[in-house]
Amino acid sequence: MMSAVEFRGVGKRFGDTVALGDVSFSVAPGETIALLGPSGCGKTTILRLIAGFERPDSGTITIAGKSMAGLKPYERNVGLLFQHYALFPHMTVEQNIGYGLRHRGHPTAEIPARVAEMLELVQLSGFGHRRPHQLSGGQQQRVALARALATHPSLLLLDEPLSALDAKLRHELRTELKDVLAAVGSTAIVVTHDQEEAMSLGERIFVMSRGAIMQSGKPDDVYWRPSSRFVADFMGRANWIRGSIVASNGALSRFRSDAGWEFPVASPGNRGSVHEVCVRPESVEISSSASPTPSMTGRVAEIVMLGAFRHVFVELASGDRVVSACQNRPDISFERGQEVGVSMPPQACVLFER
Ligand SMILES: Nc1ncnc2c1ncn2[C@@H]1O[C@H](COP(=O)(O)OP(=O)(O)OP(=O)(O)O)[C@@H](O)[C@H]1O
Ligand SMILES: [Mg+2]
Repeated sequence: MMSAVEFRGVGKRFGDTVALGDVSFSVAPGETIALLGPSGCGKTTILRLIAGFERPDSGTITIAGKSMAGLKPYERNVGLLFQHYALFPHMTVEQNIGYGLRHRGHPTAEIPARVAEMLELVQLSGFGHRRPHQLSGGQQQRVALARALATHPSLLLLDEPLSALDAKLRHELRTELKDVLAAVGSTAIVVTHDQEEAMSLGERIFVMSRGAIMQSGKPDDVYWRPSSRFVADFMGRANWIRGSIVASNGALSRFRSDAGWEFPVASPGNRGSVHEVCVRPESVEISSSASPTPSMTGRVAEIVMLGAFRHVFVELASGDRVVSACQNRPDISFERGQEVGVSMPPQACVLFER
């Protein structure tokens, strides 16, 4: 199947700054990709290259199998929502949404129907005659989205589409955006530096650092099977336990922390080799110590209440310290100083060289 977008060995510098090193990827038609990474890692640069606002120094970019070399932005069927989206303040909502259609010489008679369709899609029917300053931040964001979608682009580029909003609205619009993307069915690349947003919106996530894609994969893959420390840390909280392999039996190894905590990990390894194990807090199970076979006992050092979850910090008898994220339930409580057993499923333990 032909890719909707393909980068092959793309590099881009701005003076001395290497914005993109040597980037290759392909996006399937209809797929939603989340580009995730810290500030300055090159996310916007990727979108600007696809849209044609920048030219690559090296490599090739194709859209639907067609080379984009030498093609102007308006010659690419790409819908854009910029990082600092700006609606035209002097135009009404309808005029804003219809702008791209008029600009591209769409038949005038058909524009009102298309605008109405877009307003309905973003649930703003009835707001068409307002001006941007008469709308809330979330409503403006939805108008910007409708404007990006109005020309029925085969490729949609959204740069931090929800970043201007407060947390609650962000959550609401995230779900709405997901529905809209599913409804229009176009290929989409969504930039974010919020891992939760990336995991909820992207069918695949590209995790970037310093102009390179460190890992690409389904949300579950990058979260549970990170290929590097950077990705492991960037995707969420983790316990890091240093130690070495004491025994290995094919796909299962026995790990011993430097402090002496032994537990199985679902990874092959060489006896004696030193490693660091990464375990997400929600994989660390704690129980009253009377329960069978904890891999280690310890004492609760601290409890942090987070609402749906609580973080329980445990000081193990070995001297290791781990944090467990447990679902917050009214019928289960832990107290500081309480003795508990700690264990982890072997599949939740990811081995890294150290
Ligand atoms: N026009 C430009 N001139 C000079 N340097 C630039 C230009 N555009 C981007 N850069 C640099 O290229 C690098 C990548 O920038 P880019 O805008 O792609 O980052 P980003 O991942 O989108 O970051 P953010 O999350 O802050 O938006 C940065 O170091 C940035 O300073
Ligand atoms: Mg950016």
